[in-house]
Amino acid sequence: MACLPTVPPALALRKWLGLGLFLLLCLSLGYALEKKVVKSKVGEKVGLPCCHEIPSSESLHNYRVYWQKNTTEVVLAYAEGKKISKHERYENRTEMNTTNLTLWISPVEILDNGPYQCVVQHLRFSQNSVVVCDEPVTLFVTADFSKPNITAEVVNTSCESTEMVVKCSSHGGFPKPKISGALNNVSMLWNASWVSESSLSPYNVTGELWLNVTKDISITCTVEYDGFAKSTSLLLKKTNDCVVPTVPPSYNVITASSIIIIIFLLAITLAARYLPRHVCSHCCKPQDSVEEGVKECMKPPVSSKVTSETSSV
Ligand SMILES: *[C@@H]1O[C@H](CO)[C@@H](O)[C@H](O)[C@H]1NC(C)=O
Ligand SMILES: *[C@@H]1O[C@H](CO)[C@@H](O)[C@H](O)[C@H]1NC(C)=O
Ligand SMILES: *[C@@H]1O[C@H](CO)[C@@H](O)[C@H](O)[C@H]1NC(C)=O
Ligand SMILES: *[C@@H]1O[C@H](CO)[C@@H](O)[C@H](O)[C@H]1NC(C)=O
Ligand SMILES: *[C@@H]1O[C@H](CO)[C@@H](O)[C@H](O)[C@H]1NC(C)=O
Ligand SMILES: *[C@@H]1O[C@H](CO)[C@@H](O)[C@H](O)[C@H]1NC(C)=O
Ligand SMILES: *[C@@H]1O[C@H](CO)[C@@H](O)[C@H](O)[C@H]1NC(C)=O
Ligand SMILES: *[C@@H]1O[C@H](CO)[C@@H](O)[C@H](O)[C@H]1NC(C)=O
Repeated sequence: MACLPTVPPALALRKWLGLGLFLLLCLSLGYALEKKVVKSKVGEKVGLPCCHEIPSSESLHNYRVYWQKNTTEVVLAYAEGKKISKHERYENRTEMNTTNLTLWISPVEILDNGPYQCVVQHLRFSQNSVVVCDEPVTLFVTADFSKPNITAEVVNTSCESTEMVVKCSSHGGFPKPKISGALNNVSMLWNASWVSESSLSPYNVTGELWLNVTKDISITCTVEYDGFAKSTSLLLKKTNDCVVPTVPPSYNVITASSIIIIIFLLAITLAARYLPRHVCSHCCKPQDSVEEGVKECMKPPVSSKVTSETSSV
């Protein structure tokens, strides 16, 4: 109030009341919207809530209850406590709670998907019926997809890469799924295709991808449907370990080693020419080869003198 001195108290109060009512309306609307959708999986039992609960002072005999689907088909109806209508497709799969009028369906089928409506009429003594309530509720049925199956087929292979067609498939789920993937944790897109007999039948999904694998790579396939996700990973190996890339280094090794061998042989031949003199200088023994050895031993210094003389000239 202190911060709004120009507004008279009565007006401010009305404003606050209005805001309060507005908030209340929003909350109840939000609640109603939230209540309208019921989710279930194929094969499970599901309860669709009605908008009225019969007080303990009364019984179903004072009411007519219609559970309808998509406003046109009557799924189940009660009048004065007796079942007055049943639906062929829902036969033996439905029950209604006689107090809170919840419609139970078990086992749920994909075809049960859709908007339902609970209409409650109260019977008076005058035979005039009064509609107590009429509320829609949507049933959303999902079916689990199989774990994705990844297969890889090698199309072409070379020394640098392996060309593959990778396929990911999953079947029997509902609703129409999204298929996503990753290559070494980097997301990628599958070339996806879907098969289904009708918009209310299970889907089969297949993703295809052409890949040039140059090194081992991990591939992931994820199928997502209505908040659920199933995924599979596979390690794709580069199949061919080519011999060709290892040839150039071995060729080099061969040339290098043959060069070494040639040098070694050259060294040996050169050594064979000069070594005997050194050997002789060490092993000059006083035997038959003494004179020759001495001669040989004497020669080198002479020749070196000669060469030094010629070079000086
Ligand atoms: C109606 O009654 C059944 C069984 O008593 C209960 O399971 C269900 O939750 C009730 N539904 C509502 C909307 O109160
Ligand atoms: C429903 O149940 C009754 C009794 O068990 C059976 O005779 C009838 O064939 C069933 N109907 C369907 C559609 O399954
Ligand atoms: C509801 O019924 C209308 C017409 O009868 C049809 O066009 C529509 O597809 C139906 N919707 C569902 C969800 O069954
Ligand atoms: C995956 O698909 C291949 C080829 O269609 C099939 O041979 C294999 O059995 C499947 N694996 C699974 C786990 O379904
Ligand atoms: C992918 O990411 C997960 C978790 O984010 C991690 O555990 C895994 O090692 C990663 N793989 C690669 C190939 O980077
Ligand atoms: C996806 O697959 C379809 C059918 O096999 C083919 O015609 C199309 O070119 C493919 N698209 C890409 C992006 O690979
Ligand atoms: C989906 O896949 C399943 C299993 O592979 C197969 O039996 C079924 O016929 C497929 N459905 C369609 C609509 O192609
Ligand atoms: C894969 O790589 C090879 C060699 O690098 C190249 O010849 C070929 O065209 C590539 N294929 C695709 C589909 O990119």
